[in-house]
Amino acid sequence: MFELIYRSTAHDNIKSSDILSILNTSRHYNSVHNITGCLLYYNHEFVQILEGDKSQVKELFSKIENDTLHTQVVLVSENDKHDRTFKNWSMAYHELRKSEIQDISKQNFINSFLTISELAEKPTHVTKLFWHLSQEILKT
Ligand SMILES: Cc1cc2nc3c(=O)[nH]c(=O)nc-3n(C[C@H](O)[C@H](O)[C@H](O)COP(=O)(O)O)c2cc1C
Repeated sequence: MFELIYRSTAHDNIKSSDILSILNTSRHYNSVHNITGCLLYYNHEFVQILEGDKSQVKELFSKIENDTLHTQVVLVSENDKHDRTFKNWSMAYHELRKSEIQDISKQNFINSFLTISELAEKPTHVTKLFWHLSQEILKT
């Protein structure tokens, strides 16, 4: 099992219909290619985790990288792992609105994750924690 995480900045004029179409494409393509993951949209930034067979994930990422709906696509991390974090999701999606996140510690955590993702050395336990927190947010 392989995991790839990246972040990017949404195109200025991105519409909710663009996001819907990304999700429709993703849910079909990802289930056919046995890819799971989660896409978060926060403060005009995307953070996405893709999980699956290494070559499939890499192939998908090269398509995503070239998508004009976003820019500044930065690879945060890529590594092998045993289990999927998002087993039952071809592509979970959540738009985080600042006002919606009541819990200030969660807001701080997301902000620090985005800061850490800019560093050369990314502690893997922080990445792990981030996606577990995201799962909790998705459940609420
Ligand atoms: C932020 C973002 C995330 C995306 N995630 C996926 C994804 O998980 N799966 C997918 O098939 N396409 C995803 N896409 C869409 C791809 O970039 C691309 O448009 C799609 O794979 C169709 O490519 P094609 O027309 O070359 O086949 C995403 C696009 C963006 C902007």
